[in-house]
Amino acid sequence: MSREAPIPTRVTPALIVTAHPEFMNVAFDELKSLDGSLDSLELLAPDILLCGFPQVTPLQDVRALMRHAAEQRPIFVRHLAPVQAMINLNNTENDLGELALAIASLPTFTLLERGQRFAVQTRLLQTNTAETLSTVSIKRAYSSGQVNQLLAGAIAEETGAVESIKKPQIVVSVLCTIEKGYLGISLAKDNLSDWPGGARHFAQTSEQISRSEFKLLEALETFGVTLPSQGWALDLGAAPGGWTRLLLEAGTSVVAVDPAKLDSRLVGQPRLEHFHGYAEVYLEEAIRRHRKFDVITNDMRMDAREAARLLVEASACLRTDGFIISVLKLPHATPEIDPLKNLREALRLLKRQFGIVQARQLFHNRQEVTVLTARPLSTRT
Ligand SMILES: C[S@@+](CC[C@H](N)C(=O)[O-])C[C@H]1O[C@@H](n2cnc3c(N)ncnc32)[C@H](O)[C@@H]1O
Repeated sequence: MSREAPIPTRVTPALIVTAHPEFMNVAFDELKSLDGSLDSLELLAPDILLCGFPQVTPLQDVRALMRHAAEQRPIFVRHLAPVQAMINLNNTENDLGELALAIASLPTFTLLERGQRFAVQTRLLQTNTAETLSTVSIKRAYSSGQVNQLLAGAIAEETGAVESIKKPQIVVSVLCTIEKGYLGISLAKDNLSDWPGGARHFAQTSEQISRSEFKLLEALETFGVTLPSQGWALDLGAAPGGWTRLLLEAGTSVVAVDPAKLDSRLVGQPRLEHFHGYAEVYLEEAIRRHRKFDVITNDMRMDAREAARLLVEASACLRTDGFIISVLKLPHATPEIDPLKNLREALRLLKRQFGIVQARQLFHNRQEVTVLTARPLSTRT
């Protein structure tokens, strides 16, 4: 850090918003409803939008917006990062020193106190900042891992803060296009996800049955719930059986409902019943027999409103202290089809039946969102 400090070009304090490309407009609207003066400035990548304010806005206003968003839990905004400075990059190793100096001169650098857990989260985009979003195949002089390592080392040495990649309290966000670096420091909880850009990655294991498992793991983490270690689980649309495997692993007995086959590794498992048929049929029978479950999961390929109607029915089988995790599939938007209309309708149905309804478009969700519902308001017997 011996060279002269660059003069970071101050931008109107701004935000980097990450969302699924197809839902970026909706994510922006969610934020705009919290602060009407927010402007969309530039799409840096299909899933990354730079937002700002028409006039110079105090840092604490951006912080307040992020905090407000964290309280309101928007569905489609996956991740937020503040932009408190912007520097020009020339894609040489010199950039590293410039980034380090620019970060050290941020007013929010004082958040990094001795003993605080922090992470540097660098995202390098292969796009230039032109409206075209053209991908430029430039070989960079550094990787995101190298930037993280170098900056984290310098910060730890200078402040006494402790690097903690998995559970940071403070996040130093660095997003680099080919030409510019956008920098900011914030509380991890205000970023809406502890992971860079909300990209929650899980390690693959040899026991894993389907990629859908990641979806359930991410949902549990996002909604702050754990699978029960005993009792009964009902898994609707279970095949090939990834969620069923996770439920069994947690300790519950499972009724897996699907007309399709389960993975051979699940066949004959002692705590598993496979109902080879449709969820609609199974639920009718379960309600008639007064079956009760501690947790119900649903990953069926089915219209969101239909799924919601089925979950309302399924609430009769849910213990009062149980919860449901369900995927709600959405159609692609066309001039005639508004996927949000379907989602709003599905959520309205669920809110009539459950005291708790939270929805989120997870990193592992594609054209869908995941909901947690709990506290059934009435149960048919
Ligand atoms: C995405 S897969 C589920 C993956 C599963 N969660 C896993 O981790 O392996 C969707 C499943 O829903 C099932 N499905 C679709 N409609 C159904 C219905 N009405 N009743 C039961 N299963 C249904 C399909 O047969 C398919 O196996």
